[in-house]
Amino acid sequence: MSSSAPVIPSPQARAKPFLKWPGGKRWLTRHLLGLLNGSSYRRYFEPFLGGGALFFALQPEKAALSDVNSDLINVYVQVRNRPHELIRRLKDLSVDKATYARFRSADPKLNLDRAVRFLYLNRTAFGGMYRLNRQGSFNVPFGGGQRTPEPLWNENLLQEASKALKGAQLQTSDFQELLADAGEGDLVYCDPTYTVAHNNNGFVRYNERNFSWDDQKRLADTCQRLAREGATVLVSNADHDDIIRLYDPTRVYRLDRMSVLCPASEKRKPTTELLLLFDSRRTKRPAQRVRRPFGRITPDA
Ligand SMILES: C[S@@+](CC[C@H](N)C(=O)[O-])C[C@H]1O[C@@H](n2cnc3c(N)ncnc32)[C@H](O)[C@@H]1O
Repeated sequence: MSSSAPVIPSPQARAKPFLKWPGGKRWLTRHLLGLLNGSSYRRYFEPFLGGGALFFALQPEKAALSDVNSDLINVYVQVRNRPHELIRRLKDLSVDKATYARFRSADPKLNLDRAVRFLYLNRTAFGGMYRLNRQGSFNVPFGGGQRTPEPLWNENLLQEASKALKGAQLQTSDFQELLADAGEGDLVYCDPTYTVAHNNNGFVRYNERNFSWDDQKRLADTCQRLAREGATVLVSNADHDDIIRLYDPTRVYRLDRMSVLCPASEKRKPTTELLLLFDSRRTKRPAQRVRRPFGRITPDA
């Protein structure tokens, strides 16, 4: 990628995340944009793409995006390259149990067909998300269709997303592979899978299956290296001292929000998560840990 086109945070961005994604950060983007404060960067890197909330809020001209989920990356590639074909295919699909069952059991080989299946299931599955079980298969029941008479997929949403993705390099890979290419002057946002459960003693149990403790250490080492090389790095993570100890950032923010992981039988509880910031433009003085809560932030996505 050339270094000519800067990433400038754009609060007026027209494109929005088009997927519903577990752990999506739509609720956090206005705070992230506030932290970036209109600064410009060489390139934008988002190695844990998911629904890409910050990518769409920034709409950088030069971006490198990745995720380990190859079906997810295929959807982005198809939206970027073939939005009109996708829209035409999605437009005629009816939202009912039989169509849902047909898509759920299908295993298409062509990339466009796989993207259509993914987008259909992302909107119609119970809980409104595309989630795989431990065996890697999709077994979520039908969600009951639309509450409003809107079309299943808003054409503008996919068209605007397609435009926003035009300058994006997309790859299926582990985060470390993507970040090997990042360096001085770049902006990096890392939002790993950090599903945690608080046990009775208040300890955090990390989700070893999706993102192990060794992965956490690899991520911290990679971010520390990038910060040393002069990149601006933002990391979302679980609020736990063990995580803080892995990093030496410019700032640590603790974010208040309501838990979305609460069992349905219980009342939603307030929970916190961390935002770690390494900012090459703010490190003229020695790095210090400042815990400044943003105040209550509730999810709107
Ligand atoms: C919390 S989600 C990101 C949500 C995203 N920030 C958003 O706004 O929607 C974490 C993502 O990281 C991906 N992931 C997990 N382990 C990974 C790894 N080792 N390398 C790259 N991506 C990974 C998951 O597939 C998931 O899509």
